[in-house]
Amino acid sequence: MSETEPVLPRLAVALATEEPGARPPEHVAIIMDGNGRWAGQRRLPRVAGHRAGAQAVRRCIKAAIEHRVRWLTLYAFSSENWRRPPDEVTDLTALLRHYLRSEIAELHREGVRVRVIGEHSRFGPEIRAELEAAERLTVGNSRLTLVIALSYGARAEILNAARQIAAAVQAGRLTPDSLDEAGFARFLSTDGIPDPDLVIRTSGECRLSNFLLWQSAYAELVFLDVLWPDFDGAHFADALSLFHRRERRFGARPG
Ligand code: FPP
Repeated sequence: MSETEPVLPRLAVALATEEPGARPPEHVAIIMDGNGRWAGQRRLPRVAGHRAGAQAVRRCIKAAIEHRVRWLTLYAFSSENWRRPPDEVTDLTALLRHYLRSEIAELHREGVRVRVIGEHSRFGPEIRAELEAAERLTVGNSRLTLVIALSYGARAEILNAARQIAAAVQAGRLTPDSLDEAGFARFLSTDGIPDPDLVIRTSGECRLSNFLLWQSAYAELVFLDVLWPDFDGAHFADALSLFHRRERRFGARPG
C-alpha cells in the first residue's frame, strides 16, 4: 500500500472543504518535489520539469488565495541544491528571475506580499536585486504572504540562531535563563511568520529534507502522490481536506 495519500474523490473533497466553520490553515508550506521525474517520464530535459513546476506555482498561489490561506511558503531551492550540476543551478536561477519579472506585477495586483528566506546572498547580484525589488514593491500587501525559501536549510538557520544568541550572551545583551522558545524563534529567518499548520510534500517522498524543522514541530504533514508539475487547485483542496480531518492536539490529551 502506498504510504502517501491517495487523491480523494472530487465530490468528497468539495464537501469536506466547504464544511461550514472549517477554518483554513493560516500557513501552508510546500516542498515542491518531482520536477525531474516529471521531465524524465516525458524524456524531456530536467529544465522542462522546472518550467512546468513554475506553472504549478502559479496554480498553487491562486488556490491559496481562493482558500483564504494567509501565508504560503514554497521551498524553491534548498541549501543542498547547490550540489546539483552547475547547468541545473543556472537553469533554476534563470527560471526564478524570469518568474519574478513576469509575475511580480500580477502578484502585487492580487495583494500578495513577497518575502524571501534563506541564504539568498549566495545568488548573484542580479537575482538579489530582483528579490529585493519584489519584497519592496509588495511590502504593504496582506492578502497572502508568499514566502520563497531560497538557498534555505533548517539546520543552518538554527545554527545561525545559536551563534547569534551565543554572541548576544557574550556581549551581555542576553542571559541564557531569559531565553524561551519565542525568544529563540526571533533569531530565525522566519521571525514574524507564524509556524506552518500544514506542510505538504509532493512526489510521494515522505521526508522534510531540512525544511522548517523548528517551525514544523506541530504541523500536520501531508504527502501527496503527485509530481509537482502536475499539482493544481484540486490537489491543494485535497491537502486542506486531509488537514481538516486531522485532530491537532499540540501534545495535549484529547478533550
Ligand atoms: C524539486 O524537484 C524541485 C526543485 C529543486 C526546484 C523547485 C523549483 C520550481 C518549482 C520552479 C520555480 C520556483 C518558483 C518559486 C518560481 P526535483 O528536481 O528534485 O525533482 P526529482 O526529485 O523528481 O528529481
